[in-house]
Order: sequence, then structure tokens, then C-alpha cells
Amino acid sequence: MVSQTDTSSLGTEAPAPGTPIEDLATPALLLNGPACRRNLQKMADAARRGTCRLRPHFKNHKCPELARQQLEAGAAVGMTCAKLGEAEVLIERGFDDVLIANQVVGAAKMKRLAVLAGRAHVSVAVDADEQIDAISAAATSAGVTVGALIEVDGGMGRCGVQPGEPALKLARRITGLDGIELRGLQCFEGHCVYVDDLEERLNAARKCHEQAHRTRRLLVEHGLPGGVISGGSSATWQVAVGEETCDELQCGTYATMDWRYHELVPEFEIAMTILATVISRPRPGVAVLDLGIKGAGSEFGVPRVVGHPEIEIPFFLSEEHTTLNNAPDWKVGTQVQIMSSHACTTCNLYRRLVVHDQGRVTDVWPIEAAGRVE
Ligand SMILES: Cc1ncc(COP(=O)(O)O)c(C=O)c1O
Repeated sequence: MVSQTDTSSLGTEAPAPGTPIEDLATPALLLNGPACRRNLQKMADAARRGTCRLRPHFKNHKCPELARQQLEAGAAVGMTCAKLGEAEVLIERGFDDVLIANQVVGAAKMKRLAVLAGRAHVSVAVDADEQIDAISAAATSAGVTVGALIEVDGGMGRCGVQPGEPALKLARRITGLDGIELRGLQCFEGHCVYVDDLEERLNAARKCHEQAHRTRRLLVEHGLPGGVISGGSSATWQVAVGEETCDELQCGTYATMDWRYHELVPEFEIAMTILATVISRPRPGVAVLDLGIKGAGSEFGVPRVVGHPEIEIPFFLSEEHTTLNNAPDWKVGTQVQIMSSHACTTCNLYRRLVVHDQGRVTDVWPIEAAGRVE
């Protein structure tokens, strides 16, 4: 029989403030506190100069304490998240305005959605008749109202109805239903966030948002509520905060950053790294770390070693190992910091963020929504 185990005597509990980071068990997900705060402030200051407000995307870090600091930095109206499970964590932690920027579909989820709408101002992205009918039925029987943002496909080719008439048709249907309230449009330019050339990237984002803007005008001309336009990303933030085609910026990665995003938006610092340990020196010039694909999201490239651009990682597919070529003369036990290419999938792998400043732990924040993909 498996019994409830008290692990406090095993040394696996969270490190105390003041602990030097070299004393941490690795891999450990680190967050440079001052760098992260500067990222939050920079985005909030940019939003404050215009009319667009921030609705930071929780999927980046899934950590309620970091979300709280994003709102506290200012110019924010609430949080965005990707999944119902993430919304449950946020609302349980007291966040009172949450957008689920994805389609919530299926009978098993409708009751959960209605429960959340009874506790907070909740909106979801919608793009299909069956989905809005199910939301309306669940919300009506629970006596609550769920907000709806019609997702408009501005070129990404993922979810969403086409701009113009198809969006108008869905808007008409929503306004005829009980328990569901049309609160605007969602338009996310995911197809252009990784365009390397800045002007090209921003122009593509602009084109995407303009389609939502024209669609909103069409809705208003037909006597329907226009509501907000929600979209944008950390890589195209200038368009969202600088122009009237976006009212709420769903920026996520700017908080933690990763090396791939840093190539696109160097104005934000890489605050999140992973502390790893050299566990083997099998051949000259080769070092092996205690970190593999179960410790670093790598969808946009292999990890990189902080301060060592000369090190090559030829292969990153082991679950728990990374092989470094061209490694310096490090002994087994040496610790290094790693940058991942994708912060959002990396945070989903860890239970806590170890916040540090000048080499010492200052805080430990649970990543409460890690794995909450349902
Ligand atoms: C719906 C939606 N909104 C916004 C974002 C932007 O997030 P980020 O700032 O991390 O690019 C994403 C990223 O995948 C997204 O899927």
C-alpha cells in the first residue's frame, strides 16, 4: 500500500531564501528576479503610453505569483490563459478577470466553465455554433453569464472564423442566446511572431489586426456590440500598444523570455534559465549535463549555455542528458546555466520557479498550473 509520505526529511523541500544557487539540486528552474521585474515594467510602461491594456498570457509561466506581479506592474485588465485547468488555478488564487483564449469544447468541461463564471468575470474564445450553444445551455442552467470573444482568423490558419460576414453571422447567433455575452473579438497573429525581420513582422501583425478592426466595424454597423479586440504577442507588442486595432495585448513570453524570443525582441531580458550540473566527462572536450528534454522545452532549437556561445549541443533528444561539445575544462559537479528555446513548454515541466538575485535565492514560487492542460 502506498502511504502519504512526508518528504521534508529527504532534503527535497523548496530552498530557503538566502541559499546560494550553487547549493541547489539540479535541474532547477531559475528566475532572475530583477531581470523579470524590468521586463514586466517595460511592457507596462509601453502600454501606459497608449490605450491598449495588458492581459498577460499565463501559459508562459503558469505561476500565480508571477501573474500577480504582472498585474501589479500596471496597465493590465486581467489575465489570459490557454486552458480551463489554468483558469481554475488563477480563479482559485483570486484572479477575477480571466480570458481563456482557446475554444472550450465538450460536455465534461461545460459545468466547470459555468462554475468559474459564477466566481469571476470569465470569457472564452469561440468560433462554432455547437460550442456557443453548449456554453449558453450550461451557463443558463447555472444562472451565470460566460463572455465570448469571437476568434477571427487573421491569417494564422489555426482556429477562428473568417473576418467579415462569417464573424457577423456568429455574432448574431450569440446575441440571440441566453447565458453568453458577446464581449468582442480575438485575433492572434501567431503566423508572424517568428518572422526575423522586424518591419516585416510588424506589418504582418498590423494586417492581421486590421481584419479584426474592420470586422468590429461591421458588427457595430449592424447594431451589435463591438467590444474589445484582444490579441498580440511579445514579439509584436509595438503594433498592439501603438495602434487602435488592438485593445488588449495577450503578451506572455516577455516575462521570462527564452533565447529564441530574445533574438526577436532583445529589449526584453532572458530572466529564466535552468541550472544544470556536469555529471560526466566521457571524452576530451565533451561534458554531459543532468538535463534533457524532460527539463527544457526545445521546439525552437537546442538549449544554449549561458556565457558560452562556443559550446555546441549536437543532439538534444535524451530524456535526462545533454551532451556538450567543445566544453571548457569543467570538472564533474560544475554547474552551468542553460537557456531554453521555448520558455512556455519549459515552465510546464517544473513544479517551482526559484527566484534569485546576485547568486542567492530570494523566493520560491510554485508553478501551480504545470501540467494543467485539461
Ligand atoms: C492565443 C495566443 N495569444 C497570445 C499569444 C502570445 O504569447 P507570446 O507573447 O508568448 O508570444 C499566444 C502564443 O502562443 C497565443 O496562442
